[in-house]
Amino acid sequence: MSTNNRVLIFDTTMRDGEQSPGASMNRDEKIRIAKALEEMGVDIIEAGFPIASQGDFEAVQAVAREITESVVCGLARAARADIDRAGEALKPAKRKRIHTFLAVSPLHMRVKLQMEPDAVYQMVIDSVTRARNYTDDVEWSGEDATRSDHDFLCRCVEAAINAGARTVNIPDTVGYTVPDEYHALIKMLKNRVPNIDKAVISVHCHNDLGLAVANSLAAVQAGARQVECTINGLGERAGNCAMEEVVMSLRTRKDHMPYTTGIKTELITGTSRLVSTITGFPVQPNKAIVGANAFAHESGIHQDGMLKDKNTYEIMTPESVGLRKSSLVMGKLSGRAAFRAKLVELGYELGDNAVNDAFKRFKDLADKKREVFDEDIIALVDDTVMRENDRIKFVSLEVICGTKVARQSAELELEIDGVIKSTKAVGDGPVDATFNAIKQLTTDTQHLQIYQVHAVTGGTDAQAEVTVRLEENGKTVMGQGADADTLVASARAYINALNKLLVKREKSAPAAMSA
Ligand code: KIV
Ligand code: ZN
Repeated sequence: MSTNNRVLIFDTTMRDGEQSPGASMNRDEKIRIAKALEEMGVDIIEAGFPIASQGDFEAVQAVAREITESVVCGLARAARADIDRAGEALKPAKRKRIHTFLAVSPLHMRVKLQMEPDAVYQMVIDSVTRARNYTDDVEWSGEDATRSDHDFLCRCVEAAINAGARTVNIPDTVGYTVPDEYHALIKMLKNRVPNIDKAVISVHCHNDLGLAVANSLAAVQAGARQVECTINGLGERAGNCAMEEVVMSLRTRKDHMPYTTGIKTELITGTSRLVSTITGFPVQPNKAIVGANAFAHESGIHQDGMLKDKNTYEIMTPESVGLRKSSLVMGKLSGRAAFRAKLVELGYELGDNAVNDAFKRFKDLADKKREVFDEDIIALVDDTVMRENDRIKFVSLEVICGTKVARQSAELELEIDGVIKSTKAVGDGPVDATFNAIKQLTTDTQHLQIYQVHAVTGGTDAQAEVTVRLEENGKTVMGQGADADTLVASARAYINALNKLLVKREKSAPAAMSA
């Protein structure tokens, strides 16, 4: 094991994060997230699971082309076809890694793989050996390692390293372990696996008991030097270890944990917002580090203390995670140059077309809303720019509602694959009428599971940000939309989710992929 105290950050937002029910990202969205992760200083970006679908293959390939600083990684089961597909997708990468995994717990081997341990052992060797044909940088994971037999785990880890794995990952696949047990497991591997010093020990924790970050930190203290994590803790079931939490814990408590990462923490808030917008997963207000309330002090006692000395109630500064004071931007007289400058200040690098589209929406908003804040600009730009390549686009909406009509009605125009289509529909309420109109122009096979509205800023003229979750044949997607008009925001959110469903319809999860 390396004696240095640098912890590698392996981001799996676009692979394990994308496996969370409702999350899906298309190729362009993955490129956008990958660039943000690279800028943040992420060491390894797991861009996807190339054999999962043609779309994921192309997304990993596109990320491999775009990213030059971070290592780009693709996931593969222990099967030849998976490894070859990952190798193919990663071809354009300047720095590439194949991450191959196989279950090692008695339960998974018996029930899922239906294989004897000796056959699994041989497959570990074969899979790592095959992956080495494509790159020297191979990571091997023993799925469900925290419920494995220790002797068998040691044998597999040793064999993987002998076969050429440079990183050995010890996942807590089902979020079952607790910090002292996980610490002991990592120590045990360090003490018992003879060639362990030839590889980096990695940890990968799921959050089923809310312990993913605590377990990851305990593992680092035991000698792990790679942490696998996701932005906002996105991931299957209760999610994965949240990157922002693990990184800020190491930074804030370096007196207790003297380890460093290469993450530029000031970019955390922006990246969190980007992932939330792209996936449609809102961040809960009380979420550590990136929640809207994470740095808010409301009680009088706290406010008093903060005014006297910030250290009374603040263990890290909002600026250290890239959170700035909400500031008033422009009104309806503000020009294009000022708007462009504001976008740069907020961290957007947009082409001319995107700036023009966003500026038009800003002007519309400024006509309706007296004061436009940074948060408004962010919601509006995210809602405009992220939708650039959508197949279904919102054009216009007129809704008749109130107590004087028997049934509410909506007249809607959409652009579908470049063609403008319009329709009129009725419903039980204005939102129902709007969604019925969308269904008339698109598909009616999806079911609305969640509909939520929240205000982007304070005030009755605040923009509404709507989140919807749609379900179709067991697959779910989230969509978000923002607008000063709640019904327009609702339509935009539903359309955003439908676009994601189009992507999801093309993808089918491979068998035995329980990671
Ligand atoms: O949770 C898990 O075991 C995984 C592996 C593929 C690393 O995601
Ligand atoms: Zn996982």
